[in-house]
Amino acid sequence: MEKSENMHEKAPRILLVDDEEKNIKLLKALCEGMGCETFTAKNGIEAIEKTEAQMPDIVLMDVMMPEMNGFEATRRLKSSELTRHIPIIIVTALDSREDRLKGISNGADDFLTKPIDSEELALRVRNNLKIKEYHDFLKDHARILEDQVAARTRELKSAFEKLDKAHRKITFGYIEAIYRLSLASEYKDEDTGAHIRRVSHYTGTLAEQIGLDKEFRDSIFYAAPMHDIGKVGIPDNILLKPSKLTAEEWVVMKTHTVIGAKILMGSESPYLKMAEEIALSHHERWDGKGYPGALTGEAIPLTGRLMNIADQYDALRSQRPYKPALDHQAVVKIITQGDGRTMPEHFDPEVLNAFKRSAERFKEIYETHKDDMPASTWEIQKG
Ligand code: C2E
Ligand code: SIN
Ligand code: SIN
Ligand code: SIN
Ligand code: FE
Repeated sequence: MEKSENMHEKAPRILLVDDEEKNIKLLKALCEGMGCETFTAKNGIEAIEKTEAQMPDIVLMDVMMPEMNGFEATRRLKSSELTRHIPIIIVTALDSREDRLKGISNGADDFLTKPIDSEELALRVRNNLKIKEYHDFLKDHARILEDQVAARTRELKSAFEKLDKAHRKITFGYIEAIYRLSLASEYKDEDTGAHIRRVSHYTGTLAEQIGLDKEFRDSIFYAAPMHDIGKVGIPDNILLKPSKLTAEEWVVMKTHTVIGAKILMGSESPYLKMAEEIALSHHERWDGKGYPGALTGEAIPLTGRLMNIADQYDALRSQRPYKPALDHQAVVKIITQGDGRTMPEHFDPEVLNAFKRSAERFKEIYETHKDDMPASTWEIQKG
C-alpha cells in the first residue's frame, strides 16, 4: 500500500459491511494489516448511513444480510450523486456467475470470493483505491480549474473596467480640450462662452424631438459647440464690427464655415467628423439661399439643419457687437414667421416643427445656461 499511502494524506478508510462478527474480524485484521483504517456496518441500511456520513474510500459489501442485502445497498449507493464514486467490492460466499451478474447490474465495481484470500483482497483493494484516487484527483482538478477560470474572469473584468474608465477619462479630456478651443473662438464676439454649451442642449433637444437615437444625440451634443470654430480665422475688425458688414467683409465672414471644416478635417473621431460636417453646413438654407455651398433641402446634412435653427435662436437671444439681445417671444416670431433676413423657408420643415414643439425647452435652456461656467463642470453636468 506504500503507493496509495503516498497519494493519500491519510490512511485509506474502508467500510466493512457484514452481519457476521467473525467475517468482520477477519476483514478488519487483513485491512488494518495493509495500513488501512476500517469501520463497520451490519446490514445494507447501516452501510448506506455510514457511507453517507463518513465517505469511505472503499466499501467491502457482503451479500446476504438481514434488513437490506448487499445488492440493494449497492444499487442505492450507486444511484446517489453523493456516493456513486465510492468503489464497492462485493464479497460473495459463492463464486457464482449469477451473483456476479447481479452485482454488476447493481453497479458493483469488483468482487471478492469467500473464503477470503489475503493476497486477492490486497489486490482488489489496491486497484479500486487507485481508481478512486484518480477520480478524486480529476474532481479536484476540475474544481481548481473552475476556480482559476473564475479568478481569470474577475481579473479580465477588472481590467476591462479600468480600460473603460481610462477611455472615458481620455474622451472627457479630449472633449474638454475641444470645448476650451471652441470657447477661445467664441469669446471674441460673444458676451460669455455659454452659447457653445447651450447649442449642445438645443441640438440634443431637436434630435430627440425628431426621434434620433441616443448615439446621434450624444454625438451632436459634443460636436455642436465647435460649429463656429472657424471664426478664429476672421479678422477682429470684421468679427467685432459694431455695425452691418460691407459686401467685401461679408465674403470674408462667410469663410468661417470652410475655415472651421478645415480645422476639423481628417479626424478619426466621430465627434470631430460630425463637427466638421456641422461647421461646413450650419449656414446652408433649405431653400438653397445659404452658404458656402448653396445646398438645397436634404442635400444639407441633417446635423447642419439642426444646428442652423439652434444657432439662430441663440444668436437672436444674445447680444452681439452688431445687435442687441431679443426676448424669447420675439425670437420665436422671427424664426416661425420671418423678418426678411430670416424666413421660415430657410429651415427644414420637419426641424422647424420640432423647434415649435420644443420652443419652451429652448427658453428654459437659454435661461438655465446664461452664465459662463468652467469647462470642468460641463461634462459632469452632461453626466
Ligand atoms: P452670429 O452672430 O453667431 O449669428 C449666427 C446666425 O444667427 C446668423 O448667421 C443669422 O442667421 C442669425 N442672426 C444673428 N443675428 C441676427 C439678427 O439680428 N437678425 C436675424 N434675422 N438673424 C440673425 P449669419 O447671418 O450667416 O451670420 C454669421 C455670422 O456673421 C454671425 O454669427 C456674425 O458673427 C456675423 N455677422 C452677421 N451679420 C453681421 C453684422 O451685421 N455685423 C457683424 N459685425 N457681424 C455679422
Ligand atoms: C440632450 O439630449 O442632452 C439635450 C437635452 C436638453 O438639454 O434638453
Ligand atoms: C445678412 O442678411 O446680413 C446676410 C445674411 C445672409 O443673407 O445670409
Ligand atoms: C451649461 O452648464 O451651460 C451646460 C452644461 C451642460 O449641461 O453640458
Ligand atoms: Fe456660424
